[in-house]
Amino acid sequence: MINVALPKGRLGDKVYEKLAAAGYECPELLDKKSRRLVFENKEKGVRYFSVKPTDVAVYVERGAADVGIAGKDILLEYAPDVYELLDLGIGVCRMCIAGYPDFYDDTDRPLRVATKFPTIARAYYEGKGRDIDIIKLHGSIELAPILELSDVICDIVETGSTLKENNLVVLEEVEPISARFIANRISWQFKHEEIMAMKHALEAQMEETR
Ligand code: PRP
Repeated sequence: MINVALPKGRLGDKVYEKLAAAGYECPELLDKKSRRLVFENKEKGVRYFSVKPTDVAVYVERGAADVGIAGKDILLEYAPDVYELLDLGIGVCRMCIAGYPDFYDDTDRPLRVATKFPTIARAYYEGKGRDIDIIKLHGSIELAPILELSDVICDIVETGSTLKENNLVVLEEVEPISARFIANRISWQFKHEEIMAMKHALEAQMEETR
């Protein structure tokens, strides 16, 4: 049995579609009204856990799941000790520094950066030798510069519409982001064949939809 940590939401739905098409189906997963968190198809040897996207890497790192699908943003932020096996080429977005179009960086004082990703923001500005003051938030990051809580934000930009609707723009690009297929290090040894079979199935599905 291979245990898969599947992120709830749009990304997980897309990945499940690929896995189902590759033979790892579990039709109960499609019942959106269900509050179940574990879905199993004994015949296909697969068990899915429906988890919060930010928690996928925790389940995989600690071996509660053998494999999972996590955004590169989460992998960069939390640096879990897992194998990153495949870039799935979906959930594509960018980690960016954003702010008002007329933003001026006053280097006489630390730059106030609001973000859900303090490690990524810190590493980025450390690389530039710029002193910053991190303001850790959990959502609606775009509000911070509007309320002058911060000078800029470090956040995910996908379509750009959240920035646009709040009169903000991308000032700098930090990192391209996409979903990755990850594996627990011990499972990688003991369930090597099953994990490789799933990886190859995902690769084949990606080829088909290219
Ligand atoms: C994410 C991100 C941006 C938005 C970007 O937020 O933090 O706010 O999506 O997407 P866009 O470029 O397509 O507009 P999310 O939807 O996760 O909500 P949150 O504000 O609660 O973090």
